[in-house]
Amino acid sequence: MLLPYLEKHNKFQLWVALKTKHGTNTNQLPALPEQHASLIILSRYKESLKHTKTRIKYTYCPTCRKTTKDYGGKKHTYHEYGTLISDVWRDIECNPYDNIDSAIVRLRDLFGLDPFINLYLVDMRKCKDIIPASHEAEPAIKHETSGIQSVQCNRLIAGDCLDVLNTIPTNSIDFCFADPPYNLKKKYDKWDDALESVEYFRWCDKWLSELYRILKPGRTLAVLNIPLWAARHYQFLSLAMDYQAWIVWDAISFPVRMIMPSHYVILCFSKGSPRQLPGLDNNGMNEKEKESLSPLGELYCCRAGCIDLRRRLGNPDISAISDLWHDIHRLKHNSRRVDHPCQLPPSLMRRLFALFTKPDEIVLDCFNGAGTSTLTAQQMSRRYLGIELSAQYHEIALRRHELLSKGVDPFGKQNTIPSVKNSQVQRMSKQKYHVSKKTLQLEVKKIGKDLGHLPTKDEVKQYSKYLFSYFEEYFVSWGEVCAAARTTGMSENPLIEKKQVSIKQMNLFSME
Ligand SMILES: C[S@@+](CC[C@H](N)C(=O)[O-])C[C@H]1O[C@@H](n2cnc3c(N)ncnc32)[C@H](O)[C@@H]1O
Repeated sequence: MLLPYLEKHNKFQLWVALKTKHGTNTNQLPALPEQHASLIILSRYKESLKHTKTRIKYTYCPTCRKTTKDYGGKKHTYHEYGTLISDVWRDIECNPYDNIDSAIVRLRDLFGLDPFINLYLVDMRKCKDIIPASHEAEPAIKHETSGIQSVQCNRLIAGDCLDVLNTIPTNSIDFCFADPPYNLKKKYDKWDDALESVEYFRWCDKWLSELYRILKPGRTLAVLNIPLWAARHYQFLSLAMDYQAWIVWDAISFPVRMIMPSHYVILCFSKGSPRQLPGLDNNGMNEKEKESLSPLGELYCCRAGCIDLRRRLGNPDISAISDLWHDIHRLKHNSRRVDHPCQLPPSLMRRLFALFTKPDEIVLDCFNGAGTSTLTAQQMSRRYLGIELSAQYHEIALRRHELLSKGVDPFGKQNTIPSVKNSQVQRMSKQKYHVSKKTLQLEVKKIGKDLGHLPTKDEVKQYSKYLFSYFEEYFVSWGEVCAAARTTGMSENPLIEKKQVSIKQMNLFSME
């Protein structure tokens, strides 16, 4: 890996997954078709990335003709031209083995480069074999030769994964999955998510070594992490295992920064040569598994009515599976969450299990959290083992398995609001609104227009016809109060003729 060398004199800024043509694989293994390349942005300056605000146009569903994403009641807080970009670029396509012009144009745009300035893009692919990988310590991974032993399955185990993995026989598991804490200062019940990075990776290397040991030959170990950490796992795992796939999970959520972070990696390695992937084989798969391996075509929306219509039209919306997954959303609604700060969506686990395992095989998740993996495994007739450090999360997972055994859907909607949260922003308690939040945001927008600037709290107090306490009580921040005032608002129907946004307006309201 080149990154450690590049980082010696440059600051790592951004890891972009760039969409490429479907199926540009270079290896001959039975592999997922490749559909992305990595574009790594480093800078000579040490501060955060300096770039312009770049928007991409909304796309429209070919069936209902509305925007691909359903903006629901939030249209007034979005810009009429398009959304901010994320770190997965699917709106442009390039061929890394031939033409990368579209990426160059995007980079020019992003960095506000005039057309006459040269942009030098360094193609590092040819350097791959020149620079050896460097390691801080002797790898703990060692090849084991002992035979396959049986393991007691369908269990959730409370404890530290290193202690528990140590008790599991070598070569006994068909699919190892890890969704570890990312060391990004999340609030877990029993885990300090703010280790020194050397300490973090030393710890990761230990459980990765154990997962390697307990995995059956020819089977897959999959680790979910942010791209930069996944690159470090890649370095470590490639010492003993065969690289299988770098799956980009485009886990899109709400715009929070000028480049929305939505790029997660599911890094897959096999122990020795991989077997033919069960999910690419198609033999003996049931309809549900086939469905989970049939991603939604790029532009199709998820509106229930439109999905129904497409089913009646004979599913024209299905595309072929690749290593770029864009159709699986994070859990968006509190009604689907339990008291755990970062649950995965069950559809992600469904796709992974359908791809890498067959019924009755054994899957293991050593960071089982609220049980997304083990519950999905049970639903899909896989045998499972789940390990979790926190007694509180372990109990939640146990309760959900009990529900499942009684025939209740553990991923179904609930009436309670979870008390824990993924981000630092406080969650509002459920309350009755005397005036809708949208009305209040549009009121602030109107005041801002009249004044010619984003209004201050005092100005809203002075000019609004609504009680100021509503603005204080219904929103998590003043930023949210001003969300509509900062932008133009959008329509989910295609704009026939786009209004030109005045320069003045762009300057005034350019904080979205
Ligand atoms: C990112 S979360 C996994 C969430 C899970 N995929 C889900 O959907 O619910 C990581 C989990 O690892 C657990 N954990 C942290 N350190 C651990 C350890 N040493 N052994 C076992 N679990 C650990 C945390 O308590 C947390 O629940």
